[in-house]
Amino acid sequence: MAQTMQSRGPVTGTAATPKKRRKFFVLDFYGTAVGKKYVMAITGIMLLGFVLVHMIGNLKMYLGAEHLNHYGEFLRELLVPIMPRTVVLWLMRGGLLVAGALHVHAAVSLTRLNRQARSVKYQGPRDYQVANFASRTMRATGIIVFLFLFWHLADLTWGWWNASGGEGEFVRGDAYGNVVRSFERVPVSVLYIVANIALGTHLYHGVWSLFQSMGWNNPKFKEWRRYLAVAFATLIVVGNVSFPIAVLAGIVGK
Ligand code: HEM
Repeated sequence: MAQTMQSRGPVTGTAATPKKRRKFFVLDFYGTAVGKKYVMAITGIMLLGFVLVHMIGNLKMYLGAEHLNHYGEFLRELLVPIMPRTVVLWLMRGGLLVAGALHVHAAVSLTRLNRQARSVKYQGPRDYQVANFASRTMRATGIIVFLFLFWHLADLTWGWWNASGGEGEFVRGDAYGNVVRSFERVPVSVLYIVANIALGTHLYHGVWSLFQSMGWNNPKFKEWRRYLAVAFATLIVVGNVSFPIAVLAGIVGK
């Protein structure tokens, strides 16, 4: 007993394990899969809100050029004169951009985490198909929506494709005319329709899984979650797809 006591070395401060520096707790939380899922769900809700409001705003197209263009001007004039012109619009754009960037970042890093965690392969190709269908669909449709968004901004906000002069000219502040000039081209309308169907699929899976991510997954409301996901996705797709069809059919035009 005495021998054991003697052989033990002195306890010094250097022997203690160095303390791991803690990150800010929000970053710590974001480092976990649950944290990333929360970020995906919350930013997803913000983006859903934008997509819904944008579609409803665009319905003004059916009332005529004046109404749609007036709506654009209303957005630029929000809270004037409390705030200078376009400031609120730019704040909303900033919020949307941050939400979009976080949504994509969380999606990419969650995919990486899942791949690292899944070291054991699925038993058969069928299991793999079932387990991954939703996530593969989300990745594919997410990429399509992202590419579409870039095209869409270049088309109707920056005026890259319509700025060639003449009949098809892009006119800043004339959202109605720009939409009509753009959708009169059949390939452009087809592109909008395809992209919006991909968006609808993304929204369906997104609405469905955000309840899961937020922990609002009481089995009693499972059917309602599905109805809500189908209803929201259908509403957005029908609304958005109606615009190019209405232009091609001559219901909306110059
Ligand atoms: C056929 C359906 C759509 C139509 C007719 C449409 C129409 C427009 C128009 C006219 C503008 C320019 C507004 C202006 O500068 O005054 C615009 C901007 C925009 N659209 Fe769309 N859009 C459609 C679908 C979408 C979808 C599906 C998304 C998102 C996934 C989207 C996201 C945006 C964004 C982020 C802007 C920029 C907003 C800003 O700068 O304030 N749009 N859209």
